[in-house]
Amino acid sequence: MAVPEPAQNGSEELVLAFLAEAGDEFVSGEAISDKLGLTRAAVWKHVEALRAAGYRIDAMPARGYRLSGIPDRLTALELRPLLNTHDVGQTLHCFEEVGSTNDVAKELAEEGAAHGEVVVAEAQSSGRGRRGRPWASPPRRNVYLSVILRPDLPPARAPELTLVASLAVCDALRHAGVDAGIKWPNDVLASGKKIAGILTELSAEPDKVHWVVVGAGVNVNARLEDFPEELRGEATSVLLERGQPAPRALFAAACLTALEAWLDRHAEEGFGAIRDAWRARNVTLGRAVTVRVEGRDVQGVAEDLDERGALLVRTPTGLERVDSGDVKLLR
Ligand code: BTN
Repeated sequence: MAVPEPAQNGSEELVLAFLAEAGDEFVSGEAISDKLGLTRAAVWKHVEALRAAGYRIDAMPARGYRLSGIPDRLTALELRPLLNTHDVGQTLHCFEEVGSTNDVAKELAEEGAAHGEVVVAEAQSSGRGRRGRPWASPPRRNVYLSVILRPDLPPARAPELTLVASLAVCDALRHAGVDAGIKWPNDVLASGKKIAGILTELSAEPDKVHWVVVGAGVNVNARLEDFPEELRGEATSVLLERGQPAPRALFAAACLTALEAWLDRHAEEGFGAIRDAWRARNVTLGRAVTVRVEGRDVQGVAEDLDERGALLVRTPTGLERVDSGDVKLLR
């Protein structure tokens, strides 16, 4: 069952947004009270409440307040002030625990949720990966989020969105100091190990997409012992790569902001721009691969992406086009 986060106070959130927007600068209590129509005493009360909730807020006489640390939580209170987007994350559904954020997002989409609504959870009790595999989702260590999209695309082009999402996650990881690359179609790797995965699901009729749910799981602060034993040689996290933890709210906001930027680019310039960006970040092309496709193995050299995002593999018998499958990198 989904466990909702505690209710939030609107003015507190506004004070926080104001401080977050100022970045490293101090803002005077007067500026906050004028801007938000609050008394100075009310501003002080909200600052105290935010501190009690784990925010670090410096106060200096004559200079005012400065936000210097946020709690490592993924509630709307942390995320909203960090989001600089027009659609993605404008409505946030944040949970302490769900079965799967994709399942919650799919239900919301069926009930009419808007383009860009986001579901985030601190933990998943039945996180899902591609091909029905489980996705390890320990509490308060990583980022698990799903975004509802209502793209103006024919269903045949929906898989492009999966590559769009992989660009966003890869960019957010690189921004966090991780040397990430994409294995076709959308596994994000660092040091040859999986650091993030994307699960895309959709509802469509023959010539219309009703909704797409793009779910991303990123191993942010997972330690080795947080992964199931059989995955310890194959999985990594931002913490393991950098040797220090990353603030998850900042990371999630960076993913969502990058996702919106790439979605806009996709809508304006088409798949060509996405394909070029994907090529620039991929760790698949030019490599010898085995691709498991519907029970058989395609072996050869990964040569390119076609104009729909399918993988072109040069095999001893010719060029094979692979729409979906699991790629194993050989050398
Ligand atoms: C994969 O590489 O197999 C895809 C993993 C996708 C995991 C994410 S976590 C958020 C969302 N909710 C899920 O149940 N799965 C996706």
